[in-house]
Amino acid sequence: MTADNQTYPLVIDQRIDEPGGIARLRLRSPDGSPLTPFTAGAHLDVHVCDGEIDLWRQYSLCSDPACNEFYEIGVLRDPNSRGGSETLHKVAREGETLEIEGPRNHFPLHEEAPQSLLFGGGIGVTPMIAMARRLQALGKAFTLHYCTRSRSLTAFRDEIEASGLSANVVYHHDDMVESTLHLSAELANANDEAHIYVCGPQGFMDWIIGAAVEAGWPTGRVHSEYFNAEVDTSGSAFEVEAAASGVIVRVEEGVSIAQALREAGVKVDVSCEEGVCGTCICDVLEGIPDHRDHFLNDEEKAENDQMAICCSRAKSDRLVIDL
Ligand code: FES
Repeated sequence: MTADNQTYPLVIDQRIDEPGGIARLRLRSPDGSPLTPFTAGAHLDVHVCDGEIDLWRQYSLCSDPACNEFYEIGVLRDPNSRGGSETLHKVAREGETLEIEGPRNHFPLHEEAPQSLLFGGGIGVTPMIAMARRLQALGKAFTLHYCTRSRSLTAFRDEIEASGLSANVVYHHDDMVESTLHLSAELANANDEAHIYVCGPQGFMDWIIGAAVEAGWPTGRVHSEYFNAEVDTSGSAFEVEAAASGVIVRVEEGVSIAQALREAGVKVDVSCEEGVCGTCICDVLEGIPDHRDHFLNDEEKAENDQMAICCSRAKSDRLVIDL
């Protein structure tokens, strides 16, 4: 229906309020035409707009990649966010139209793997549901470990059961000691060629990824997608030249490169401003970045030829970026 980088409207066909403050939104094209196919792990960029709120937010697709009639996303109401999720909860009524970009996929499934271990924490289960549907269709071995605070706050349970995924889903609830995830054992018992996927709150992701690294899993078989992250803008001031704009700014501690450039009148594209979405990635022409994002992988960071300017800083006194 649309190219990857175009903005287009989708209508909210159905809203289901799930436990745990999650709104499940089913989106269709206004004229009922088929939607652009997507691959498991993909997300939509959604324009969240109401009053002073004017943001683009990323939401993973949890619907079946084989279905092109509708997309489905899950939106967690998060009072600690900058207003995007609260606003979307408020404005997302059935029949309303949302502006969309994508689907885009920065979290692809390695379909050739003989086994996949999917770890979803809370709302981080959404891309895992799409991955589980795809792996089930391929007849591949997989387990989805779905971790939530309690059974009563566990969203998507009905959907998981209706999709026939239950046999491959193990629930872990913080308040049920008998459901504890024995991570070391799961990692130790996995196939030598298995791949891990993890999405959820930062502490949950750090725990899974840290355990996998400690157990000797190569980073190429450990895949993650952050929904949000804390931004650390501590450290010495440095200079940034935006080469194409001809602007030089000093980036003080506590301020991001994107903020400093914006204040100097440079147009900077940002979305999450937390180093997770990739919108602000710029080419680095000179200097050494201090990478603090969760978007670039370790190999990309090591090359030092691109950086996320919403959160990353500099190891050198000066950076020249292509902006
Ligand atoms: S704006 Fe999302 S990574 Fe920088």
